Amino acid sequence: MKHYKKHIFICENIREKDSLKKSCGRANSAEIRQVFKSRLKELNLSIEIRANASGCLGQCNHGPIAVVYPEGIWYKNLTIDDVEEIIQSHLINDKPVERLILKDDK
Ligand code: FES
Repeated sequence: MKHYKKHIFICENIREKDSLKKSCGRANSAEIRQVFKSRLKELNLSIEIRANASGCLGQCNHGPIAVVYPEGIWYKNLTIDDVEEIIQSHLINDKPVERLILKDDK
């Protein structure tokens, strides 16, 4: 079996409605992942690039969060409108989308 060239994990964690912490799953992340999946399929890329759901990635206040491997680039505050740019720029052309990158805390 061939390994995937790239993997994007999108947090779909959903907290209780009365939770004081934010959660990506309450900010449309499941729909964002579905758009990634269907666009990758349309582009015939789903054999080499995979979009998977993940649990909490520990950056809840910046969500919806996604992380792309093997680079380990994290994206924050994602919307459906960002999906095509991430696919075209990062997943296909290896140019991460700077304006959406979650930087390490210093
Ligand atoms: S709920 Fe998504 S990073 Fe924690």
